[in-house]
Amino acid sequence: MRLNQATPEQLREWETTLSEQYQAIQQAGLSLDLTRGKPSSDQLDLSNELDGILNGKYTDSAGTDLRNYGGLDGIPEAKTLFANMVGVKPEEVMIGGNGSLSLMYFSVQTALHQGVSDTDSAWSNEVQANEGQPVKFLAPVPGYDRHFSVCEHLGVELIPVAMDENGPDMDQVEQLVQADSSIKGIWCVPRFSNPTGVVYSDEVVQRIARLGKIAGPNFRVFWDNAYAVHVLKDNAQELPNLMDYCRQEGTEDSVYIFGSTSKITFAGAGVAFMASSPANLAVLKKHMGFTSIGPDKVNQLRHVAFLKDNATLSEHMSRHAAIMQPRFDAVLSSLRSELGDTDMGSWTEPEGGYFISFDSRPGLAREIIALAAGAGVKLTPAGATFPYGNDPEDKNIRLAPSFPTISEIEKAMEVFITCVKLASVKQALAQ
Ligand SMILES: Cc1ncc(COP(=O)(O)O)c(C=O)c1O
Repeated sequence: MRLNQATPEQLREWETTLSEQYQAIQQAGLSLDLTRGKPSSDQLDLSNELDGILNGKYTDSAGTDLRNYGGLDGIPEAKTLFANMVGVKPEEVMIGGNGSLSLMYFSVQTALHQGVSDTDSAWSNEVQANEGQPVKFLAPVPGYDRHFSVCEHLGVELIPVAMDENGPDMDQVEQLVQADSSIKGIWCVPRFSNPTGVVYSDEVVQRIARLGKIAGPNFRVFWDNAYAVHVLKDNAQELPNLMDYCRQEGTEDSVYIFGSTSKITFAGAGVAFMASSPANLAVLKKHMGFTSIGPDKVNQLRHVAFLKDNATLSEHMSRHAAIMQPRFDAVLSSLRSELGDTDMGSWTEPEGGYFISFDSRPGLAREIIALAAGAGVKLTPAGATFPYGNDPEDKNIRLAPSFPTISEIEKAMEVFITCVKLASVKQALAQ
């Protein structure tokens, strides 16, 4: 079924058949959801051992009673665990609460109002000096909607930059930060990016490590390594070590690295962390001291006891992969068999992470998502993967297969594909 080779008569026949199929699906009264990347309950079950694992032992290696207040930046064992996970030194790690998004929000907010080092470095000083003109962040697109909403909420303007299979378009990124010193940050999801699944290449990571040298003052890379270990198969593409490149460039102060166990253990009761130069962490810790007397250190110790080290972590992640891979396969095999020989869309086939990114023909994402909703299948809203909800080509759709069962995915994909075909044929007829 190739639209560019079809006669008007064929298109009309296809439209009739597809409309009938769509109506039949509507009558089935489905209620399916492919929206957010939540772990399934089978995945959550993999970490049930966390409950009771401490068996009454609430002290860390230094003998501190972890049930009490204190320990603002985390226990030493947790710093070591996460330092090894993302390839930094333990003294470059600070542990947070149960979600990394709070650490990201806190870092942007602190940089804006208190500064990345002293008060002279507060981004808001520049806003004042520029008569209220906002500071800006680069947003590689398609990207993660909650990164964008942090900036939108805090009054930071977002400038989209293109992504390709190696990461952000670094020519564009370098040109923009060199030309405009009010650009203060860039959002990166460097391994198994949300939603494309892209892993940043060696060259891209090296060039990102250099940004601190060419950008205006107080620039920070927001390196959200949310899917650092979330592989779907053995030998998945590795991510080059950003901090090692920063050491070579002398730019350790220009990066904030984030991660969490939300999609390793419990999404609602995991442990989040950030990594950066000790100087940056000292600043953040000083300001964090006003928000908390100390995080949940008991949960940190439970995670250390459970995840132990990189080898144990990696075995645990392969159990996640065994649950996730068939779900990804269900999406991919239906896309390949139903749309592989058509000119109605393209998609990514990631080696890890939580998402598949689908691009329809330009101008159709909104329509496809509305059609799917009309047939009982909820998809991530159109435009969600772009700042301000504005996908200029109206074509990107994020598919999240982790939560539904395989048979639900198969049903949802049948609906999705019917909607893609119907919208595409209708558009071709209208042209
Ligand atoms: C790229 C990315 N970062 C962060 C998060 C949320 O992380 P956390 O649960 O640690 O707040 C998600 C969740 O989907 C994500 O996709």
